[in-house]
Amino acid sequence: MTQDELKKKVAESALEYIKGVSVLGIGTGSTVNHFIDLLADFKNDIEGAVSSSEASTAKLKKIGIPVLDLNAVGSLQVYVDGADEVNRHKQMIKGGGGALTREKIIAAASSKFVCIVDESKCVDVLGKFPLPVEVIPMARSYVARELVKLGGQPQWRENYVTDNGNQILDVHNLNILNPVEMEREINNIPGVVTVGIFALRGADVVLVGSESGVRKLD
Ligand code: A5P
Repeated sequence: MTQDELKKKVAESALEYIKGVSVLGIGTGSTVNHFIDLLADFKNDIEGAVSSSEASTAKLKKIGIPVLDLNAVGSLQVYVDGADEVNRHKQMIKGGGGALTREKIIAAASSKFVCIVDESKCVDVLGKFPLPVEVIPMARSYVARELVKLGGQPQWRENYVTDNGNQILDVHNLNILNPVEMEREINNIPGVVTVGIFALRGADVVLVGSESGVRKLD
């Protein structure tokens, strides 16, 4: 099976978590794109979705699912999203697609975060995938110097602007042994909008697609 087939398979398995749910939180990325495609068959049962990116918004609208404002919706029952890395504690690195800030907001506002990944995303220690950090543009160099002090090698994602008008530093060579502590530490650097460690609020359920089927970490 190709990696894309595994992504599709795990996306299918997330459908059971949206039974009876009228407003969904929807993430960003190629795995979630498969999930959005599958929602087309359920659009009459779904009142709408809160989307984490302009890309997912466009895809949802295309299949006729209304995109709702989180302020109007309040809290969400279920949020479905992918990840770039996930450990056995259901802590993740996210933001490879640049949508980390809205993803973190929706995760925080949701009762259940269902993370869907293919098995290539499972790791013992987070950090091999370069950690995305969204920064206010004027703070980019300052934040980069602070990240070097933490042992990372930040690289500016040039020619890229987030949906919020900010920039991204991808931090290489971090060995994130304590994700909660590092999330707090990077959050506290002035100029950081969001760090792509999702540990303070990790996933509630992780579905992992592999050749032998979909397994669940919960
Ligand atoms: C988007 O910003 C990320 O957090 C995605 O969840 C992550 O990059 C997963 O992407 P794929 O599903 O394309 O692997």
